[in-house]
Amino acid sequence: MSLRTPVMRANQLLRLPVMPLRPRGPTVGRRFNSTQSTKSNPKVPPPSPPRASASPYALAVVGLSGLGLAYYFFGTDGSARQTGRELDSKARGALAAVEGKVGMRRGQEDYQKVYNRIAGMLEEESYDDGSLAPVFIRLAWHASGTYDKDDKTGGSNYATMRFEPESKHGANNGLNIARDHMEQVKKEFPWISYGDLWTLGGVCAVQESGGPTVPWRPGRIDGFSHHVTPDGRLPDASKAEDHLRQIFYRMGFNDQEIVALSGAHAMGRCHTDRSGFEGPWTFSPVTFSNEYFKLLLDEPWVWRKWKGPAQYEDKKTKTLMMLPTDMALIKDKSFRKYAEKYAKSEDEFFKDFSAVFAKLLELGVPTSQFAGEPWQMRTQ
Ligand code: HEM
Repeated sequence: MSLRTPVMRANQLLRLPVMPLRPRGPTVGRRFNSTQSTKSNPKVPPPSPPRASASPYALAVVGLSGLGLAYYFFGTDGSARQTGRELDSKARGALAAVEGKVGMRRGQEDYQKVYNRIAGMLEEESYDDGSLAPVFIRLAWHASGTYDKDDKTGGSNYATMRFEPESKHGANNGLNIARDHMEQVKKEFPWISYGDLWTLGGVCAVQESGGPTVPWRPGRIDGFSHHVTPDGRLPDASKAEDHLRQIFYRMGFNDQEIVALSGAHAMGRCHTDRSGFEGPWTFSPVTFSNEYFKLLLDEPWVWRKWKGPAQYEDKKTKTLMMLPTDMALIKDKSFRKYAEKYAKSEDEFFKDFSAVFAKLLELGVPTSQFAGEPWQMRTQ
């Protein structure tokens, strides 16, 4: 199948250098060889222990959860319902912690099956540049990036983007496409929580597009609509470095991590009917690479003259774009040194991206809900 985008085709006509797509297998992206994988993540934790039978404590927690649900459904007034929901999510959190501790949780091979299923659905010729990977990465990021380290609300634990108003927040425009695809997977693997499913989808999309292995572990639980956080927690692309710092420091990240995370814009594109912005950041938007940083630093960027929101275009081909927040990474001195480091070395970028993306995906999940060290899921 052809993965040549209109951008690539235009470049070929203009005889401009086209970024080759990395050799691709039956799914999307280049395989990662074992040396590289080990380099990114030297520790490969052993598979989790087999599931044990339910402990009396776990059964008590299930009972408590049932009580919470009963209270929720049969409670007569709003506050009774609210208390019921609180009880239920507390009990589910406690159950997840117990499951993790006593080894009741499903093992890595069960989650690998889900990973493989997602990997199998990434390539979709009729969609954008031929891959759903970019929109899956964006779903995982937006599901996690609502976290506030001070009050510990938001993050990936409760998969609150299933609920309004979060599903309708402007920043999440277009993510219904990713959620709908994930729903098909959820039907086949109903035991997985939405938070685990969406974050595993992000990991799969990065790895299968030629990116680094990203340590990941299950443990998130499904929450209720009252866990939804207010609009405005995700970054506004029209703003500058102060805004980026305010948003990402709130999640608990530093300057280096902000720059590494932004490198995900090697993948995908902006859509006028979603964010209002338009175009891809790189010539190969289905390949995870450090091209974003190279182009950011090497190309001359000028304001695009158009009716849409203020964005940059590359002077030479006018086919690529940068957001004002992308440009902030080279205008700000502290950010720029990391952008330069990642432009010089893809290995450094992959190493740092792997660590910070794994951290992002665990925001808001109490450590007690995890069953041990993260795993490395096998690239297909
Ligand atoms: C630094 C602040 C960020 C801003 C202001 C920002 C903004 C945007 C915008 C406006 C779009 C276009 C959405 C559309 O029209 O479809 C987009 C797409 C995307 N973003 Fe970001 N983003 C940021 C950080 C991140 C991070 C941290 C990640 C992941 C680690 C990420 C991953 C992506 C991906 C993969 C796409 C492409 C989606 C697609 O092709 O459908 N972004 N981003």
